[in-house]
Amino acid sequence: MRLASVKLSLDPRRSPDLVILGVFQRSAPNTEGLPKRLANAATRCCEAPGFKALEGQVQHAEAGGTQREMVEVHGLGTRAGFDDRKLRRWAAEVIEGAGKEGKKRVLLVAPDHPAAEGHGALPLMTELMLTGYRFERFRKPGPAKRVQEIRLLAPADQQEAYEAALPLARKLASSVSWARDLGNTPPNVASPAWMAEQAVSMAKEFGLGVEVLGPDELSAKGMGGLLAVGGGSSRGPRFVRLEWGEQGETVALVGKGVTFDTGGISIKPSHGMEEMKYDKCGACNVLAIARAVADLRLPLHLQAYVTLVENMPGGSSYRPADILRCYNGKSVEVMDTDAEGRLILADALAWAAESKPETLIEFSTLTGAAVVALGSHGAALYSPHEELSGELLAAGKLSGDRLGPMPLWQEFREEMNGVHGDLRNLGGRWGGANTAAAFLSNFVGRVQRWAHIDIAGTAYEASRESGTSEATGFGVPLTVDWLLRRTERF
Ligand code: BES
Ligand code: MN
Ligand code: ZN
Repeated sequence: MRLASVKLSLDPRRSPDLVILGVFQRSAPNTEGLPKRLANAATRCCEAPGFKALEGQVQHAEAGGTQREMVEVHGLGTRAGFDDRKLRRWAAEVIEGAGKEGKKRVLLVAPDHPAAEGHGALPLMTELMLTGYRFERFRKPGPAKRVQEIRLLAPADQQEAYEAALPLARKLASSVSWARDLGNTPPNVASPAWMAEQAVSMAKEFGLGVEVLGPDELSAKGMGGLLAVGGGSSRGPRFVRLEWGEQGETVALVGKGVTFDTGGISIKPSHGMEEMKYDKCGACNVLAIARAVADLRLPLHLQAYVTLVENMPGGSSYRPADILRCYNGKSVEVMDTDAEGRLILADALAWAAESKPETLIEFSTLTGAAVVALGSHGAALYSPHEELSGELLAAGKLSGDRLGPMPLWQEFREEMNGVHGDLRNLGGRWGGANTAAAFLSNFVGRVQRWAHIDIAGTAYEASRESGTSEATGFGVPLTVDWLLRRTERF
């Protein structure tokens, strides 16, 4: 698989085709460290009549000398109104814009703002590298109009932070692009078995322990949820378990990997069904987190539990009214075969909880209701543990993978109580993301520090480039950021 191809460095020696600076209203451009002729061109831009550094204003000038680079100064609005989200969006947009104009080598001067300092270097660099991401495995490569090399000029006293962040950003961006490649792979190729093969070769390459369970092992273990959901597909389910390290805290990750979600017998409307190839993104992103953790050699004990299954209608499908028995012995009455994610996660969470991890985090494209609640601007975070919630919300803010806190109220749990079984897989009319989360809380055993993150709204997004959707890798920066800080690596 091809990974993010933008080269990023901090070495400003080779001459660029374009120099980009951002400037705040009523401020001078930050030209420290720039050769004189570039600094002068930037100053000329700022002094151009009518240029007030309002958000979106752009001014060009040609630098003199033999190289005659173009210098582009962008208004960033007021310093107080600027933040890390604006910084990343601006950086990605100017690089994409430069690529469209045929520029190949860009020198980007990081704005002189707290958002670009210290920890902010990592998400900024990761974002810049990922501007090079394209999913072109199944087509002739599109027009090569994109920036190939970015040189980032760190703010004055930030050289050290930037140098520390660069190798981390490289590894993080590489795992995010791997997650995206998996997520974008179409469902005819990405069967449960194919996904398991990708996990195995990744584990071999990065030195993780790996175990794959097929249908026979799953029935021997009593994984009734995964087997039921997989019943309708000719391509049987797989369960992948990865393991990294032995020292330090035990962190378990769980990911939903429905390689295609038709809804099963409770079939979905056909319009937009193609998006259900992204119903495996929880699994893809958890695999990518494990890849990044191994690549960064983080000193912790990581376990990843990834359920892979295709939800299809057919003669051997499970049906509404079926009663299943999950791995922890609880029975579930199926009310809707399209509420399949919680059934496979029930088995996965119960197995993950068995080894008593200190922290358990699960990612799933679980409900349309989470998209109704938060749109695509953040994922829904559920956790009964305040400290863990706080840590994850903070990591969400720093990494750019934003989370919105959601409730785990008793009333939602009650809605999931069964009549003919211990539980049912469908709640009442409203609060569907919350009832789904409440259902999952029955399967975490005695683990206190657990969190469920519903990424239905953030796992894929309409791409600016193509107009169609693409996987994002949401949760990889979030979790790696959180783990870097827990292991005091950044
Ligand atoms: N995979 C879907 C959830 C989803 C919706 C993911 C939109 C990404 C974008 C999930 O399996 C599902 O079908 N959920 C149902 C649950 C309902 C039947 C209780 C839903 O949200 O409608
Ligand atoms: Mn579904
Ligand atoms: Zn689903």
